Amino acid sequence: MNSSATLSPSISAGISDPGGPLPERPRPTLLIVDDEEGPRQSLRVVFKEDYNLLIAADGARAVELAQQHKINAAVVDIRMTGMTGTEVLEKLKALQPTVEVIMLTAYETVDTIRRALRLGACDYLNKPFDIATIRKAVATAMERHSLTDEICSNNQKLQALQSELHNQKLQEEIARTRGEIYASIIHDINGPLTIISGFIQIINQRVGECQRLEGEDLEMVKDRLRRITRQVSNCIDISHRYLNFMRQQGSAAAWINVNQILDDLRELLNVHPSKGSNRLKIQAVAENVELQINGTDFIQILLNLAVNALQSTPTPHAVDIVCKVLHAPVDAAQFQEGPHERVLNNEGFKNAAPILHVSVCDDGPGIPPEVMTKLFKPYFTTKPPGKGTGLGLAIVQRLLKEARGCLQIQSKPGEGTRFHIYLPAFVKR
Ligand SMILES: Nc1ncnc2c1ncn2[C@@H]1O[C@H](COP(=O)(O)OP(=O)(O)OP(=O)(O)O)[C@@H](O)[C@H]1O
Ligand SMILES: [Mg+2]
Repeated sequence: MNSSATLSPSISAGISDPGGPLPERPRPTLLIVDDEEGPRQSLRVVFKEDYNLLIAADGARAVELAQQHKINAAVVDIRMTGMTGTEVLEKLKALQPTVEVIMLTAYETVDTIRRALRLGACDYLNKPFDIATIRKAVATAMERHSLTDEICSNNQKLQALQSELHNQKLQEEIARTRGEIYASIIHDINGPLTIISGFIQIINQRVGECQRLEGEDLEMVKDRLRRITRQVSNCIDISHRYLNFMRQQGSAAAWINVNQILDDLRELLNVHPSKGSNRLKIQAVAENVELQINGTDFIQILLNLAVNALQSTPTPHAVDIVCKVLHAPVDAAQFQEGPHERVLNNEGFKNAAPILHVSVCDDGPGIPPEVMTKLFKPYFTTKPPGKGTGLGLAIVQRLLKEARGCLQIQSKPGEGTRFHIYLPAFVKR
């Protein structure tokens, strides 16, 4: 037994110097790993004319060689002192996944051979082997390697092409929608700004009414300032979201608690000018449910739908926001497009339970069929000039798509409007 990790000097002449000048047509490299001198020598003689040979007398040397040279195929003895052939196989595959490995076996059990095949060995030969058999096995391994190599390089080219195409498409999309994005930023920031302006008016009024700010008045001003600060952070969040989008950096959304967002929504809507004398009811969800969506995005979706519902008519009316957790997927038959119903992002919807269902319902005038078809077109509005930009629902659509949610709208003139949002959720026990 020879367990030395060195390349035998007697055979080094048959091994090409990897640092030397490149032959015209590079020969494939074959690694031979055996701790017995006899088989090593005979394999060298058989293959020295056809391949660059790397020869190792034990596993450690084989790994070392694989770290230094690109290897096409290897012939590895299973039974060796020190590192076993199966361990060498595992290490070779980890270093060079496309290397083809033929195992040499003597008295191994079927289990050992099976394990080697499972680890990616391409063939196994019983010792002693005849020259024709080993030549054929190595030639097949070399052929397999060059095929795998070709597939890998084609795959890499394809991936590079795909990502280039994707980038180009994204650039075009951004260029095309740039104007819309800028308008969306202004639209989204307008919500928090309206609320900030409302709080500032209240503060001004209170400050103007009293000589000195103390006690209850001081507390009230402090509270309003806190709320203003919160809205200012909302504005910053919104602008970050769009900046990330323009830079094409999707920010990974954290899990958000639904009832916390509903509390924020209640606070925002109660001071929103469109609330007026309308009756607004927001019903929290009974379970402790979370969503994987940016908190500002979720509040933006709800705010847009709620403000639309509150603004649907100047006559006092009711708006109800109700949240429920669905413990089974939504029945697709429930989504029917028609003059009084629209469904958005059904195809991109991750319809797997649990799902959060939020409905925003009003008993306003309802939506006529000719308006139903245009609802999500950017800049479409039926509001008087200066009152609406027509971007609210286009933004809702985009945010829901990003969150893999779905939107259903049911409305008939004279029968009010119901917006249903479905979003993949997580219920905390
Ligand atoms: N609950 C609703 N009841 C009646 N009509 C609605 C309702 N929600 C939306 N609409 C109709 O959809 C149109 C588009 O809504 P969208 O939110 O996109 O823009 P907007 O509300 O007009 O403008 P902005 O959102 O910028 O204030 C509205 O102008 C209105 O005609
Ligand atoms: Mg709107």
